[in-house]
Amino acid sequence: MTVPVITIDGPSASGKGSVASVVAARLGFHYLDSGSLYRLVALAALRRGIPLDDAEALAPLALSLPVVFGKDSVLLEGDEVADALRAEEIGNGASKVGALPAVRAALLERQRAFAVQPGLVTDGRDMGSVVFPQATVKVFLTADAAVRAERRYKQLIGKGESANLPRITQDIIERDARDAAREVAPLRHEPDAMLLDTSAMTIDEAVEHVVQWYSDRLSSG
Ligand code: DC
Repeated sequence: MTVPVITIDGPSASGKGSVASVVAARLGFHYLDSGSLYRLVALAALRRGIPLDDAEALAPLALSLPVVFGKDSVLLEGDEVADALRAEEIGNGASKVGALPAVRAALLERQRAFAVQPGLVTDGRDMGSVVFPQATVKVFLTADAAVRAERRYKQLIGKGESANLPRITQDIIERDARDAAREVAPLRHEPDAMLLDTSAMTIDEAVEHVVQWYSDRLSSG
C-alpha cells in the first residue's frame, strides 16, 4: 500500500513548520522537518571546522550524520542540539550547504526513509518537487517577507532573545534569494502545488486548508 505523503514547501519563516507539525498531529502521521537535516549538516560542519562550501568534505558528513531524533530532542553525536539548530546563523549556514548538489544527493535517501505508514507530513523547499514527487498533496506555503520577518522577530523576543527587525528582514530576503537562485532544487512554486498564502491567516486556518485538501484528494480517489 502506498504511504500517503503531504509536502509543504515554502520560504524561511513562512510558518510551514508549525503548520506541517499540526497537520501531522491531526492526521496521526509522522513529521519530517527537512530543514533540520540541512541545519544539522551546517552545525556539524561548524563544530568540525569544515568550511560551508567544501562539498567534498560535507557530502560524506551529510551521509553519515550521527543523529537521533526524539519527540522534542535532537541528539548530534549524543549532544542535545534542538535549540542550537534554531539559531539564525545555523539557518543561514543550512542555506549555504543546501546549495551544494552533493549535500542534497547525500540527504535524499535519509529523507525518503521517513515515509512510513500511516503517512508523512514534511516541510522544506523541494519536498514536492524532488524528494516526494508522487506526494498525495503538495502545498506551497508562503507569506509576505515583511510578515515573515515580523513573525520571526516576535518568536525571538518571546524566547527572551535580542532581535533586530531590519536585520531579520534583510536576512530573510537574502536567504529567499539564495534558495531560489540555486541550480539544484531551487525554492519555487511548482504548478502542481496548491498555493497557500498565510500573510493574513492563523496557523489553525492554514492547517484547516491543508487537511481539507487532503480529504478532498482521498474522496476523489
Ligand atoms: O526550513 P528551514 O528554515 O529550517 O531551512 C533552513 C535552510 O535549509 C534553508 O534556507 C535552505 C535549506 N533547506 C533546503 O535547501 N532544502 C530543504 N528541503 C530544507 C531546507
